[in-house]
Amino acid sequence: MCGIVGYIGGKKAIDFLLDGLTKLEYRGYDSAGVAVNCGENIFVEKAVGRLDSLKEKLKNNLPVGTIGIGHTRWATHGRPSDLNAHPHSDCHKNFFVVHNGIIENYLQLKEQLIAKGHKFISETDTEVVAHLLEENYHGDFVLAVRDVLAKIEGSYSLLFMSKFDPDTLIAAKQDNPLIIGIGKDGENFIASDIPAIIPFTRQTYILNDGDIAIVKKDSISFVNRQGLPIDKKIFHVKWNAQAAEKGGYEHFMLKEINEQPKAVRDTISPHLNGKVTFNELNWNADFLNDINKIYIVACGTAYHAGLVGKFYIEKLVRKLVEVDLASEFRYRNPIVDNKTLVIVVSQSGETSDTLAALKESKRLGAKTLAVTNVVGSSIAREAEFVIHTAAGPEIAVASTKAYTTQLISMFMLALYMAQILKSVPAEEIERLIKLLKKIPAQISETLSDVEPIKTFAQMYGFNDDVFYIGRSLDYCVALEGALKLKEISYIHAEAYASGELKHGTLALIVEGVPVIALATQKSVYEKTLSNIKEVKARDAIVIGIAAAGNTSLEKYLDHVIFVPETDELLIPLLAVVPLQLLAYYAAITRGCDVDKPRNLAKSVTVE
Ligand code: AGP
Repeated sequence: MCGIVGYIGGKKAIDFLLDGLTKLEYRGYDSAGVAVNCGENIFVEKAVGRLDSLKEKLKNNLPVGTIGIGHTRWATHGRPSDLNAHPHSDCHKNFFVVHNGIIENYLQLKEQLIAKGHKFISETDTEVVAHLLEENYHGDFVLAVRDVLAKIEGSYSLLFMSKFDPDTLIAAKQDNPLIIGIGKDGENFIASDIPAIIPFTRQTYILNDGDIAIVKKDSISFVNRQGLPIDKKIFHVKWNAQAAEKGGYEHFMLKEINEQPKAVRDTISPHLNGKVTFNELNWNADFLNDINKIYIVACGTAYHAGLVGKFYIEKLVRKLVEVDLASEFRYRNPIVDNKTLVIVVSQSGETSDTLAALKESKRLGAKTLAVTNVVGSSIAREAEFVIHTAAGPEIAVASTKAYTTQLISMFMLALYMAQILKSVPAEEIERLIKLLKKIPAQISETLSDVEPIKTFAQMYGFNDDVFYIGRSLDYCVALEGALKLKEISYIHAEAYASGELKHGTLALIVEGVPVIALATQKSVYEKTLSNIKEVKARDAIVIGIAAAGNTSLEKYLDHVIFVPETDELLIPLLAVVPLQLLAYYAAITRGCDVDKPRNLAKSVTVE
């Protein structure tokens, strides 16, 4: 996720650009930059790091031009740096573009452009768009942009500025948001999100996929990809500024729970083209056959994702996997050598326990792979291999979309390894890929009815103890559900392998204790059912999470939440969603600070 801004009017563009980027910094903060048309030249300034670094550079050097574009970055391709900061331009600095999204076919386009003599200075996918515009511009700005859009694939919101067309900005939208603010006295505004615009106007146009906006200081018009005019209705924004930053949601956590379909889709799309690909790994059978042991090492939610990753790799690749808490791993003299692959999982890429475990693994000679959400993070830079999740910035302390994108990344990694080693028949891989593609829509379906979960949270949100039980992958998800509830509602929640209850914990199951029973795994369903009966016999209140269609379970439960049917390997991506929502609404019921729970930090950079 990145933040885009644009201004055209009678005032200095830089004022809106910096104010707008400040309001959008929650969308990404790896680097920032502006480009302002000052007549004879285009003023450009960029800075790696937070927006303040850019403001520092601009302090005594503010451009006076009245048309400009700006960007605050969340890196997806190319680590955070001045060179990779947007805006990006063509060889002759006549065209400038800022971008939010992923150009999936940028590598082949870049090769074609280099072959035609174009010189690239950054590692980003976005720079390709600027050179494409140079290639296609023959005097008609709109036509050139349409030709560029016809060549690129992926998700994007783009804002273009041309030295030859100083009275026009052009915006294009596909999958990522873009809004036009309708100014009053000869000025107009463009931004990725409403918070940047509402201090100046509440009259807006919300772009739809395929829309192209031609923005001048006194007019705003729209065409589609074929150049045909589009009529758009004005949207009057009623939100207040703070609500707008959360996209209208009350908390970042709820916004991020609801962003999961898109986050998972964005994480999948660069790695699927008929089969699973990881060009950034480029592994082969020799490399994988040389590995005789795999560790997955992480903390907190990332550790819970690692537990699921173990199932994926052991089932599909048939290689031994151990999962370790990063804070324990390096103190137990782990058995690691050059035939070991250590996979570290970290949303922030800065967790000190995980970074230290990674460094120790490298010291012991292991091959290392990082699965992280932050390009250019310490863990991403330290690992030999890196896979990036595309969750976008996760602001809430409680990790949600990072977890589901970590799961899908490890599922794809296991499929990728299985393709190379032929450890799974091709038709089975094809079947799993088909199911994988349905997951974003199935997460949306799971999010579509939150009312029962809200009710459960209100009914049981004041209990002091809650238990989560499950077997196999359900146990892994139970651990994540319990952590969510603990960390934001402060309820004492424990997850147990349901087969383990009779070995002690059953003593705590008394009348009225809420038990969340995950029962999605067909392979252990009968055993799970007997455990549910065990706790019901002690008059617990049991809320079940089950796969759609399993109506036989209802008679044993007080309540049940169904998630869509899919392969039991993929159901964790769906089963976790009601648990995230249950934790969220329980915290609301108890009046807790959902996004910033007590004693916790988003990234634990201390041991
Ligand atoms: C999860 O909701 C917590 N915020 C915490 O457990 C977190 O997952 C853990 O600190 C690991 O963070 P990382 O993924 O950034 O390494």
